[in-house]
Amino acid sequence: MNAQTKNELAALHAADEENANTSGNPSLLDVLEQRLSRRNMLRVGVGSAGAAVFGSLAACGGGGGGAAAAPAPAPATSGPTPLKLSFAPVAKNKDDRVTVPAGYTASVLYALGDPLTSATPAYANDGSDTGFGDRAGDHHDGLEWFGLDAAGTARLATGSERGILGINHEATTDQFLHVAGVTANPRPPAEADKEMEVHGLTFVEVRKAPGYAYQKDSAYNRRVTPLTPMELTGPVRGHALLKTKHSIAGTQTRGTINNCGASFTPWGTYFSGEENWVNYFFRSATDDTARGGAAAKGVVSLRRYGKNQGAASRHGWETAGADDRFVRWNISQTGASADGTDDYRNEMNTYGYMIEVDPYDKVQAIRKRTALGRFAHEMGVFGLQVAGKPLAVYMGDDSRGEYVYKFVSTAAWNAADANPANRITTGDKYLDAGKLYVAKFNADGSGSWIELNIANPAIAGYATYAFADQADVLVNARIAADAVGATKMDRPEWSAVHPVTGELYVTLTNNSNRKVEPTGSQHGVDAVNPRSYTDAPTAPATPGNINGHILRVRETGDESAATTFTWDIYLFGAEAGMDQTKINLSALTADNDFSSPDGIRFSQKTGVVMVETDDGAYTDVTNCMLLIGLPGRLGDGAVQAINYTKLDGSTLTVQTRVGARPTLDTLRRFLVGPIDCEITGITETPDGRALFVNIQHPGETISKANIGNPAMYLSHWPGNAGYGAGGATARPRSATIVVTRDDGGLIGVDGTAVLNNF
Ligand code: FEO
Ligand code: CA
Ligand code: CA
Ligand code: CA
Repeated sequence: MNAQTKNELAALHAADEENANTSGNPSLLDVLEQRLSRRNMLRVGVGSAGAAVFGSLAACGGGGGGAAAAPAPAPATSGPTPLKLSFAPVAKNKDDRVTVPAGYTASVLYALGDPLTSATPAYANDGSDTGFGDRAGDHHDGLEWFGLDAAGTARLATGSERGILGINHEATTDQFLHVAGVTANPRPPAEADKEMEVHGLTFVEVRKAPGYAYQKDSAYNRRVTPLTPMELTGPVRGHALLKTKHSIAGTQTRGTINNCGASFTPWGTYFSGEENWVNYFFRSATDDTARGGAAAKGVVSLRRYGKNQGAASRHGWETAGADDRFVRWNISQTGASADGTDDYRNEMNTYGYMIEVDPYDKVQAIRKRTALGRFAHEMGVFGLQVAGKPLAVYMGDDSRGEYVYKFVSTAAWNAADANPANRITTGDKYLDAGKLYVAKFNADGSGSWIELNIANPAIAGYATYAFADQADVLVNARIAADAVGATKMDRPEWSAVHPVTGELYVTLTNNSNRKVEPTGSQHGVDAVNPRSYTDAPTAPATPGNINGHILRVRETGDESAATTFTWDIYLFGAEAGMDQTKINLSALTADNDFSSPDGIRFSQKTGVVMVETDDGAYTDVTNCMLLIGLPGRLGDGAVQAINYTKLDGSTLTVQTRVGARPTLDTLRRFLVGPIDCEITGITETPDGRALFVNIQHPGETISKANIGNPAMYLSHWPGNAGYGAGGATARPRSATIVVTRDDGGLIGVDGTAVLNNF
């Protein structure tokens, strides 16, 4: 047993002592051994499997990923056996590698710069590479698997041996993209072009033979960039707010940017959210006046979306030259026209949507679905499909104090559309007409969806902003949501819907603005965002929701179109040792404690929940991670009061609703990533036996001054794992990995009652 494992068990012990519900203090190792060995005996009988489990426990944090002895075959059973988590929890660690349980293998599949064609040179990874239109982009984020038949000629929803991966390339670690790091403004055109081109999406074919590998030269391989033509569809198409010099009709735009989470539509297309697009645009210091002053509608809108005049752009692409592909990033009102068709004052209104791409068809134009509103779309996930009922899409707006939204289609679901002849026009049918709602949460565990409709007097008569029409409501969805009093949330990130119960889970990653006694633009604690605390002794020392939580919602009557719901909190992120009356409300232990949940997905095969972290608060102890759990149902926990002492000495009590506390049987850490990364993006093959995960921006903290000094890089992954050029001194690269079980089994669980936990 190495030191780290000893510490882990000591931490387990300490956490357990703080749990008032635990009587006695047996050796935690004894308890763990008993639990694991009993489960193993029940599952696969005694023998080599038991040895493998204990081998993996000893290997946690030190030797994960190694081959394990093949488990004994499962004995014949007379009926379905319940699903059980079947891996030893991975220890928190700060290693510069991907750690998975013993008996699993994590392999790099597709990293920044990897060529998509045979004619594209191998990635040198020294800043000299070009031609990213045929290479992997940067900052892999959301991803999704789309099955192919054996011949690779057609969609096969159940295809697990051959498929197309859709991948979001959210952002960039610019210093590593150039030989000597980033050149300041004015940006050299070649640098700006490269930085643009590494954004967008990848579609790449993947085959299993026998391991999973991406295929160069597949006809499905495709990069989408910020220059790829896109159609704006739905109610805002052609509206005055979308007219630009590029599209005077207001029907098209170029490209997509900062694509964060991803999901799939019920008809087999890729569904991706445009998140922090605001940061890419430049706005001059005198633009308020140019647009008619601070009270002008256009200025109110820009400010609400975080674009004050004088705001710099993230990359300075607008400084790279007079060509239109650079100029478009300057949204200042510079033209003389009344309608904006001679400049790019409206360009930002063509970003901030859910986009839909048919991964099987390069010809059909990519759609930006304006009916689903414009905000910092993390991603969107569909509710369960019921024939004859409308479809629901749930969406988070990831910024401090922003909202949770739901779109409900006008069209009722036709099961034949699960495999339509034309996927993208099926998307037109369901996603271009419907109602957009925003969530309001009540302290008693109920809530309502408030429609964002121009007919609502609270919207039509809103003093802050005079909405012109419903298209204006959709483009300025945040302002309409303000008008109806939606609940300000702790940064809604990914959403996921349980494939059996239909319950919605939303990660609320953290919120440094959540306070007991808020001032200014801060947010007060409430039932659904109930925590505000400090993380002493380590930073951040100012109070807020440091570690985030995961919201759970059940629609009234389990109806997609319901306008009321109930809610509770599935999990509160926390460090295992934190106070269980105020902070560690879910009583997390060393085996499953986490901070800043972000990615979340249910296996469509087994129903396990997978939670990923994008954290900066617990990174003094561990790199970001992925946990696997067997979730319960809304209401399986209890109401809990949190008492705060206000500055005047009085007590403020917040009543929240905590889901059933997880145990080692229901939540375990499955994977820990390399240094300075975010774990994000998650999908699986339909057979549930291969898991794809994205490792985003390992070692992203790097200055221009240190770009020539590999000793100063925080991470060298995946070069240090033997992938690509550079070896132990490589520049770090974002990458998609594939995780499989050495015995070919289901990821994370054993049992035969798949999707049958309820
Ligand atoms: Fe791109 Fe909210 O994470
Ligand atoms: Ca995210
Ligand atoms: Ca995040
Ligand atoms: Ca801490």
